[in-house]
Amino acid sequence: MIKSLSYVGISSPSAGAWHQFATDILGLQDVSDPAEDVVRLRMDDAFWRIAVHAGATNALEYIGWDVGDQLGFDAVCLALGDNGVDLHTAEAQVADERGVSALGWFRDPAGFRHEISFSRRKADKPFQSVHEVNFVTGDNGLGHLVLMVPDMQAVSDFFINVLGFRHSDDVEAGARIRFMHCNPRHHTLALTQVPGHRGMHHMMLETDSVDTVGLAYDRALAAKEPMAMTLGRHPNDMMTSFYVRTPSGFEIEFGSGGRLMDMQAAEPAGHFSQTSIWGHRPPEEPLFPGMLERISPT
Ligand SMILES: [Fe+2]
Repeated sequence: MIKSLSYVGISSPSAGAWHQFATDILGLQDVSDPAEDVVRLRMDDAFWRIAVHAGATNALEYIGWDVGDQLGFDAVCLALGDNGVDLHTAEAQVADERGVSALGWFRDPAGFRHEISFSRRKADKPFQSVHEVNFVTGDNGLGHLVLMVPDMQAVSDFFINVLGFRHSDDVEAGARIRFMHCNPRHHTLALTQVPGHRGMHHMMLETDSVDTVGLAYDRALAAKEPMAMTLGRHPNDMMTSFYVRTPSGFEIEFGSGGRLMDMQAAEPAGHFSQTSIWGHRPPEEPLFPGMLERISPT
């Protein structure tokens, strides 16, 4: 089944602003091909992890999942088929662009496109960060995503009952947020309900040191990047992090020290009534609108 979050693709009219933001603030590596209208970003030995396609609107275009091997691919295919969800075969050109030999895709109940693949191409050169950031990835994937969906129960049922994700916990502080894992990382996917809308709230990138987080925080403040939440620590995944608004309207949570789940234990899902132990203060002035699209009721 699904092993980890492999890559993410967004579209944005602000794709051109990503080079500086991603490299100077976050410490990612820009490996874009000047012949393409895409900013491709590396954070480890993977071919690339984040792609920002030039587009008319800010949108989450695709979420790439590593299924481990052919058996994992077949298991997801079977699970989708048993639940009446079509798995489409991507065109060879799309598979090549993602760096895989075979690519299947499907849509979740909120309409997001998910892609499955395995044995993704590795980069032929070592990862280089101008700020010497070491990202925590490997078998636990590139980080986590928090999505806003019109019906949280429908989407969480899909990921837990069809795709084999496990429920980590819920946080209920005003809105409810549901956290799910597919490997030891506390959560790779979290959901919150926004009736009539869908979008990506944030993508979390984890580093190996709280000092790396502090240094990135200093860079973001010095560059006057729009800060969506100050430095703080979450009680459920124990991540120490800050949230900076990207040029494309969603946020990057930049953190360190995330908790790992015991995959052997059948722990009941936890429940928390606050999102942060300390910090994570919002700005006094609301930021420009985030990556949220209105969808017609179905
Ligand atoms: Fe997060």
